[in-house]
Amino acid sequence: MSMTTSSVKAQSPRFYRSVPPARAVPSLIDDVRKGLLASPRSLPPKYFYDDKGSRLFDAICDTEEYYPTRTEDALLKRSAKDIIASLQPAHVVELGSGTSRKTRRLLDACEEQGCHATYWPFDVCESMVQGTAEALMDEYTWLRVQGLVGDYHAGFEHFPGFDGCSLFVFLGGTIGNLDHEQAVAFLSELRRSMGDGDALLMGADRVKDSGVLHAAYNDSEGLTAAFNLNVLRVLNREIDADFELDAFEHKAIFNREDSRIEMHLVSKQEQTVSLNALDETIAFGKGESILTEISRKFTPDSLDALLAEAGFRIQRHYEPDDGFFSLVLARPNG
Ligand code: AVJ
Repeated sequence: MSMTTSSVKAQSPRFYRSVPPARAVPSLIDDVRKGLLASPRSLPPKYFYDDKGSRLFDAICDTEEYYPTRTEDALLKRSAKDIIASLQPAHVVELGSGTSRKTRRLLDACEEQGCHATYWPFDVCESMVQGTAEALMDEYTWLRVQGLVGDYHAGFEHFPGFDGCSLFVFLGGTIGNLDHEQAVAFLSELRRSMGDGDALLMGADRVKDSGVLHAAYNDSEGLTAAFNLNVLRVLNREIDADFELDAFEHKAIFNREDSRIEMHLVSKQEQTVSLNALDETIAFGKGESILTEISRKFTPDSLDALLAEAGFRIQRHYEPDDGFFSLVLARPNG
């Protein structure tokens, strides 16, 4: 926003505070050195989500082929009443809240039951948290929103103390971006920051027919391809690289042995790319690829096992008839 615009506009109060990192998170340069300059090459998926990438992701969620968003939303719609009635949470804390689109199902249930919880959206994007807080307080007049700006990869030690039952929410199947060890570490850390009476509501995608999975990550409009390639644009901008987007190809395959979708960017030709901020170049062979994302797919058993290893037990497991997606309500285990 320009100075002139902001000076005429009435200052709206701030509805967020920042959560200092409990430990240093690697910078983009660290991640590039560790992943992109290594063999095989990889990048963490979090760099997809600049403005353009976030818009592309939203558009993917609206495609015919990408079933997770709509399936999870239907599960939430069906289960929110039950979840809120059984917990009566004083706080709803959402990790990676974005625009809190699906969270409205939970807030609707709170409203219906007169459960006047405080909502804590936690996201890296400050303007998103502020905008969401403003919109939600307009929509739900009884609701208190206390935004939290920070990175959930940096630990939860500096979270505010929540008194009363807190419902932690981690939706979208984002847990699938982490490999098993990372997921256990992340969930264990979350568990340690929770009280014994708290709960975790988490969405996770399921193993299924490879045709359905393949289509979801290779949509016919090419939005997933554009989303994947956009990370190269992020690198061009942020580390002064010179990737030619046309010289790479989106590839998403289901690795059934490891139960995960793997997204790659495959070099169409032999080429050299400069990473000027690092004073490095990369020589790509034809067909050489960068692993840009894993998206793990679970079975009820593997989800049980993951949560158990992190110190949770599943209290309720919501799934559609086709078993395409899981929404689990988990409680700290002892
Ligand atoms: C946001 C991580 C759940 O893994 O399905 C969508 C991201 N990648 N299409 C997923 C994504 C390609 C999405 N998550």
